[in-house]
Amino acid sequence: MPVSSPFSPISPQERDISNLFVGILIVGAAVFVLVTAFVVIAMIRYRQRRGSTEEPYQEFGRRKLEIAWTIAPTVVVLVLLGFTVKTMAATSPGPGDHPPDLVITGYQWWWGVQYPASGAVTANEIHLPVGKRMLLQLEGGDVIHDFWVPQLGRKMDMIPGHTNWLWVEPTQTGTFLGACAEYCGAEHAWMRIRVIVQPQAEFDAWLRQQTLAAVTPPGGDAAQGAMLFQQQTCASCHAVAGTAANAQVGPNLTHFGGRDTIAAGVLDNTPENLAKWLKDPQSVKPGSHMPDLQLSDEQIRQLVAYLEAQK
Ligand code: CUA
Repeated sequence: MPVSSPFSPISPQERDISNLFVGILIVGAAVFVLVTAFVVIAMIRYRQRRGSTEEPYQEFGRRKLEIAWTIAPTVVVLVLLGFTVKTMAATSPGPGDHPPDLVITGYQWWWGVQYPASGAVTANEIHLPVGKRMLLQLEGGDVIHDFWVPQLGRKMDMIPGHTNWLWVEPTQTGTFLGACAEYCGAEHAWMRIRVIVQPQAEFDAWLRQQTLAAVTPPGGDAAQGAMLFQQQTCASCHAVAGTAANAQVGPNLTHFGGRDTIAAGVLDNTPENLAKWLKDPQSVKPGSHMPDLQLSDEQIRQLVAYLEAQK
């Protein structure tokens, strides 16, 4: 698993956030040390001496000191506020009149991903070209979710009926992990997102592939699986482009075989794991809206052959 820490930024936006955090941490630490030192000095210097029955030295009111300890923290807070506002403006400048490059919708408990310019639709794994500034339009499909890929940029809520925007600009290729950052129900912890940053040409090829319709299997298990997919309940929740299945309840499965994981990151995408998921979804991801379809082992084998062939 790649490390996913806000302290190893892969975008200028996240670098700003990371710098702000470290800056505030240093200022906070300095204030802590200073205040602790003053308290310790006062305790030692003005304590009651051993054997003395007199009350220790008392002092009430010292105007200059009071003004100083009012102004100093105010200045510190104002400086931090200034840096924070500057970082906020740099990390989420608003959409302007730029059309969104991606529309990402949070659902319980997966992510819908669309590329409006090409019409490509996928789920849970977003591909981005390296070195390009992309505008993400974020939507809430049912309850409030929160999109967060720590190395890429700030957290952003996904609120039903309210659109939010996020600029991202990855400067490094690789796979970067994120997660939902707003508690959204039983499987909140298994609402993982993968960001795959690729060189432009590789990204273009991937995107082109995503716009193609599903492959119609010529025969064998996969062809049986294709039929089952339409006959069984699969088609009432999932879409597969180029077939009659066009429901939007669950993730679009058109190019499912090309994804790294199953069920928003719970399992690696292998035939064995897909079989496990189809056999008993609730044991893999309890609470998931994926029902147990009571499939026979043969049906599972056929569906796995069909879906894994959809690269
Ligand atoms: Cu979606 Cu937490």
